[in-house]
Amino acid sequence: MLYAFILGRVYTLSLAELLETFANQGVEYKVISCAPEVVVLETPVELNVEKLQGSLGGVIKIIRLFDVFKKKGKEYPSQVLDNYFTFKRINSDYFSKYTGKKQFGVSIYSLDPAVKYREEGGRIAFQIKKILQEQAQSVRAVLPHFPANTLSSVLVSENQLLQKGAEIVIVAGTQRLFVGKTLSVQNYEDYGRRDYQRPARDEHAGMLPPKVAQAMINLAGNILPLEYVLDPFCGSGTILQEVMLKGLRAIGSDIDEHAIHNSEKNLEWFRNRYHVAPGRYKLFQVNAAEVSLHIPRFPIKAIVTEGTLGPVYGRVPKKSEINQNFKDLVKLYEQVFKEFKKILSPGLRVVISLPAYKHKNDEYDSLPNLDFITQNGYTVLDPIPQDLTAKYKFLKVTPRQSIIYDRKDQVVAREIFIIQNAKIKDQNF
Ligand SMILES: C[S@@+](CC[C@H](N)C(=O)[O-])C[C@H]1O[C@@H](n2cnc3c(N)ncnc32)[C@H](O)[C@@H]1O
Repeated sequence: MLYAFILGRVYTLSLAELLETFANQGVEYKVISCAPEVVVLETPVELNVEKLQGSLGGVIKIIRLFDVFKKKGKEYPSQVLDNYFTFKRINSDYFSKYTGKKQFGVSIYSLDPAVKYREEGGRIAFQIKKILQEQAQSVRAVLPHFPANTLSSVLVSENQLLQKGAEIVIVAGTQRLFVGKTLSVQNYEDYGRRDYQRPARDEHAGMLPPKVAQAMINLAGNILPLEYVLDPFCGSGTILQEVMLKGLRAIGSDIDEHAIHNSEKNLEWFRNRYHVAPGRYKLFQVNAAEVSLHIPRFPIKAIVTEGTLGPVYGRVPKKSEINQNFKDLVKLYEQVFKEFKKILSPGLRVVISLPAYKHKNDEYDSLPNLDFITQNGYTVLDPIPQDLTAKYKFLKVTPRQSIIYDRKDQVVAREIFIIQNAKIKDQNF
């Protein structure tokens, strides 16, 4: 079965999360083609799309592809698909069974970002509309806002395309063209609620977007329902809330009393709003450098955390300030990773985000030394299988196997690592 997944802005993180989720669920897959915006995959089984969509922070749409065509380099999708759409096919394969006035849209994703198929979506939508109108069907076509070739998840949702008709999707490469329909889109309203409707927000210390928290949890390996995940720098509790949303138990700690208070408020709000059973989280005020001594011995299955960023800068900090901050952070993380060793069984993972400061040409100043990871017998895992990073050069995995998540409006970016505690047979340090 062929599927296309539309990836979020930080597409390397989105792809890593998706492939790791398949690995955790034991879903086999083959990557057929990949571009920054879209990945086409083949799976031997039908996917539980609704469940996947709700659990993947980095996937914007999931599309089922029905047909594949050979395509000559410069051929337009409307030429390749000439005579493909018939009244029967549109109604049986593409449209929902809605009986009122149908609404549909056409999005074209290019597997070659240098090739844009401008106006092609409109052309194909017009062909389809004509076929339907000839059969006296009343339909409305929703078109992307120029110059986009694709409908945003907001347009698909607001126009109820999946309920009232379809979003028909074309994924076009240089030699192949895939056609199918969208099965699900990300619930942007719900992510907004989980972010902005929380009662206690701390913009000063920084809050992780729920989508990124979800992606980090998905990178933490196979954690079963009701197992424990620890965030020892929990701040206002974003990771803990997403842990609970996944049906897991959350243990949070922070050095700051105010942060614990915020987490408590937010998690109670979350529990009520999302109908989570009581007793699914516990909070402790403790320095992460002593966390093993102060939290009771829960069987922790993963540590997922946005570590402290150091001082909060409202402007781009001077190089000397960054260097001092990094020195202090390395000292702290040396202790913290020793502590994690006491908590985490061999083979289990720490997914952590560390600060990185953008300076120029898209380059970052990041923690200069990661000895605190290797000296304690942990390994940094490849976030994406190496054969894929070798084939798809646009994937942005750093030489030290991290992925940078950044936002234009923020001084500090997040460098995300998947770190595995050594398996017993590897422990020769
Ligand atoms: C970047 S914030 C985490 C934000 C959180 N991910 C959220 O979305 O709300 C880092 C947190 O680390 C805490 N912190 C700083 N030093 C710490 C230490 N030594 N031990 C534990 N927590 C610490 C700060 O109080 C702050 O709440």
